Amino acid sequence: MKKILAFGASSSKNSINKQLATYAAVKTDLAYTIIDLNDFEMPIFSVDKEETNGIPKEATDFKQLVKDADGIIISFAEHNGSYSSAFKNLMDWASRVEKSRWNNKPMMLLSTSPGARGGKNVLDHALGYFPYMDANIISSFSLPSFYENFKENNINHESLAEDFSKALTLFKSKL
Ligand SMILES: Cc1cc2nc3c(=O)[nH]c(=O)nc-3n(C[C@H](O)[C@H](O)[C@H](O)COP(=O)(O)O)c2cc1C
Repeated sequence: MKKILAFGASSSKNSINKQLATYAAVKTDLAYTIIDLNDFEMPIFSVDKEETNGIPKEATDFKQLVKDADGIIISFAEHNGSYSSAFKNLMDWASRVEKSRWNNKPMMLLSTSPGARGGKNVLDHALGYFPYMDANIISSFSLPSFYENFKENNINHESLAEDFSKALTLFKSKL
């Protein structure tokens, strides 16, 4: 059976993006691993720290999870229009492990926020840049106004639920 790696690109304990990524992973009906970015906390990346202390184990562990997966689901938290520091730091360290960033893995990219744009700024940023990092983006979906549209562990807005379902079906078809 195909294996999915899924996570919220956030370090919040009650991350709504972790909830959305988990929801998507469960809906694939495949085997999945959910990770929490708090388990991959590392010093703030700098070339000097890398030169002095090398690459932390958490970064190589993360890269191994990427390599072991048949597909990856990420839901991005938006902080000031961009990635959360937790995700950016992990990506910076992981990018030092080997040249291929995302190992050409099929990806479903998501975002949500309590606001009406649903983290669309950070999602658009990832959609624009991930292809330069060896990512094979298959589909994407942004869920606006999380607390209105996601209740009892379900997307309860009809057209949004439909869009999500289409994005998920497309992702699954390319695994
Ligand atoms: C420092 C900070 C900056 C934020 N900036 C944005 C933003 O630019 N756009 C947005 O939609 N929400 C923003 N938010 C609200 C987040 O979308 C909200 O905290 C959301 O729950 C984050 O996702 P998470 O629960 O998965 O961590 C910000 C929150 C914090 C703490």
